[in-house]
Amino acid sequence: MISHPEQLRILGEVEKRTRTCFAGNGSGHDFDHILRVYRIATKIAGEENCDLFVVSLAALLHDVGDYKLSADGTENHRQAISDLLSGLDIPQEITARIAEIVENVSFKGNGVSDKPMSPEGCCVRDADRLDAMGAIGVARAFAYGALKSRPMYDPDICSENFNSFEAYQNNKSHTINHFYEKLLLLKDRMETPTGKKMAEGRHAFLEKYLNEFVMEWRSEA
Ligand code: ADP
Ligand code: NI
Repeated sequence: MISHPEQLRILGEVEKRTRTCFAGNGSGHDFDHILRVYRIATKIAGEENCDLFVVSLAALLHDVGDYKLSADGTENHRQAISDLLSGLDIPQEITARIAEIVENVSFKGNGVSDKPMSPEGCCVRDADRLDAMGAIGVARAFAYGALKSRPMYDPDICSENFNSFEAYQNNKSHTINHFYEKLLLLKDRMETPTGKKMAEGRHAFLEKYLNEFVMEWRSEA
C-alpha cells in the first residue's frame, strides 16, 4: 500500500483528472475500465517486485492519448500525459517511466511482438489485457464495434494477420474477427504469474462464448 502523503495527494489528483477525461466514453474505455485496470495492476504488482507508485500512475494514465479515443484517430501519449499531469510536481524520472509504459501497453497487431517492458509495465499491460477478456471483454468488444459501426459478424469474412500497427489500426472487419485477431491471443502474451493465472478463466469464457454465438447465429442452439 502507498502511504507517502505526497504520492497519495498526486494519485488522488490524477484519479480526479482521468475521471473527467474518460467520463461518458461509450467505447468500453470509460473511467470504470481505467479503475478495473488500476485494481488488477496493483493486485498483480503486490506479487511482483515493483514500484507501486509507478504502477498506479501508469494504470490510471494508460489510455491517455490513445488513437482509439482521439477525435482524429491520431496518437500522442507523451503530450497528452504531460498536459494531464501539468502542475503536479511529479519528478521527470517518474513521468518518463510512465510515458514509456503507456506507449507500449497497447496491442499493436497479431503479427507484431510486444516490446519488452519494465516490471511495472508488465503489471499494467497484463491488467489492461485481462479487461479485454472474459465477460467484460465481450461487452467492450461489442461496445467498441458498435461505436465504429462494425457488423457483429459475417461468416464469409475471415480473420487476418496484421504485421504492422498501421495495418491493424486500419482494419475495419466485424467484431467476431476481433476475437481471433486479438482477444484469444492475449492469454499467451501474459507476462506475470498472476496475469497468466487470471487469464485462464477469462480465456475459457471467450471460447465458450464464441461457440454459443456461432450456434445461435446458425440457429442450431
Ligand atoms: P489496447 O490499447 O491494447 O487496444 P484498450 O484498453 O485500448 O487496449 O482496449 C481496447 C478495447 O477495445 C478492447 O476491449 C477491445 O476489445 C476493443 N477493441 C479494439 N479494437 C477493436 C475492434 N476492432 N473491434 C472490437 N473491439 C475492439
Ligand atoms: Ni485500456
